[in-house]
Amino acid sequence: SFSVERTRELVSDFAGLEGPLLPILHALQEAFGFVPEAAVPVIAQELNLTRAEVHGVVTFYHDFRHAPAGRHVVKLCRAEACQSMGCDDLIAHAERRLGVAMGETSADGAVTLEPIYCLGLCATAPSAMVDGRLVGRLDAAAIDAIATEVER
Ligand code: FES
Repeated sequence: SFSVERTRELVSDFAGLEGPLLPILHALQEAFGFVPEAAVPVIAQELNLTRAEVHGVVTFYHDFRHAPAGRHVVKLCRAEACQSMGCDDLIAHAERRLGVAMGETSADGAVTLEPIYCLGLCATAPSAMVDGRLVGRLDAAAIDAIATEVER
């Protein structure tokens, strides 16, 4: 779990690099499962940046989580090809079916629903990634099957 000490160690591992911020944030996410808000001032101090600068980078990249993920992670693609194949309706269906809003984790910690921006599966859009597994030709029935799987 998060500690200032561990954060300082990780920061110093990468501080010598040119452009150390992204590698540091990835290392923190690897270590803690997300980038804790409490790490921001520590990183800012160590790298001589403002908190706003660090916070801006954390929120700009969709890769970084701001809270621990659920036991299952469902990522639904919202980039162009998937948009044109109706992903918005599927997202609404997934939110209802999983009982969790996009970008959030269910209260019981079972599932996190996240947007992703192109999985390289545009030819079989709309696409998703469920616990690291790619799913193409997503439809409402596939969402229902995913919901059954993650509620187990
Ligand atoms: Fe969704 Fe490429 S746009 S997989």
